[in-house]
Amino acid sequence: MHVPAEASAPTLDEYQQRVARTYGARAANYETTPVNSDWHRRIAALLVKRAQLQPGQRVLDIATGTGLVACDAAERVGPEGDVLGIDITSAMLEQVRRKATALRLQHLHFMLADAEKLRLPLASFDHVMCCTALVLMRDVPRALAQWLTLLAPGGWLGLQTNPDTAFVTSRVVQQLAATMGIHLRLSQEVGTPERLYSLLDAAGFVDIEIHVEPDGHFLTMEQALAAGPDYEFPAPGQYPPPLRACTSMQMASLREAYEQSMRAACTPQGIWNDCTSLLARARRP
Ligand SMILES: C[S@@+](CC[C@H](N)C(=O)[O-])C[C@H]1O[C@@H](n2cnc3c(N)ncnc32)[C@H](O)[C@@H]1O
Repeated sequence: MHVPAEASAPTLDEYQQRVARTYGARAANYETTPVNSDWHRRIAALLVKRAQLQPGQRVLDIATGTGLVACDAAERVGPEGDVLGIDITSAMLEQVRRKATALRLQHLHFMLADAEKLRLPLASFDHVMCCTALVLMRDVPRALAQWLTLLAPGGWLGLQTNPDTAFVTSRVVQQLAATMGIHLRLSQEVGTPERLYSLLDAAGFVDIEIHVEPDGHFLTMEQALAAGPDYEFPAPGQYPPPLRACTSMQMASLREAYEQSMRAACTPQGIWNDCTSLLARARRP
């Protein structure tokens, strides 16, 4: 594959710089430290399996991170195929580079690039994949429409995202912030099979299938409290982080209400953290 050399690192706005800093700090431990440490690995594997990749195919992995999807895809398409992983966080790509070398995946390429402004040849991939990153896009409809143009006619998009019901800590903060008139977008735009379907349909995809994959685990109270609201509470696609608009009194009452909600949700096993995935497949006509 001819991988276009980016003349320079992509120009990132303040929101994206924050995203890149966050993932830069997580890169070395991304696959080992999350509370549910094998979750990323599991859903990436599921996404790749559902894509039914064939030897020789060309795959673009959008927001590849540490390359969980890209490495698996590269093994499946074999040396006669090609996989390109792109990401805005160089420390994440460094992890892909290490893995590609260790696994001798010479047909796995990677590039520092913004998924919302890709300068790649049109119609040049058989599959475009995106795992746990769609909500990080500032403009989801535009990103999807752009990704469609990178697929060859008949090529498939495979993506994973989470429904509104997933991630108890974020969901409770979102609900409490809404009572103060503060909007946290989180997965709202894509958070039901119907909304995800409509977005894919509007972007021009056909043969859209959405599979709901239940998943989840228990959090301890300590873990839940550690993920509670603060001024920098993560807000995919939004900048500045909306909770920065809180007064100190609002923040104090948000924290108190959050703790109460978590105590109310706590069972002898802990607090159930739904991590259901929406796995979509859709084809370029
Ligand atoms: C939750 S990680 C997902 C990584 C990988 N796809 C996986 O399933 O493990 C999100 C990744 O999206 C990347 N990202 C966020 N916004 C991006 C953008 N506009 N363009 C490219 N990568 C982006 C981040 O740097 C991070 O590596």
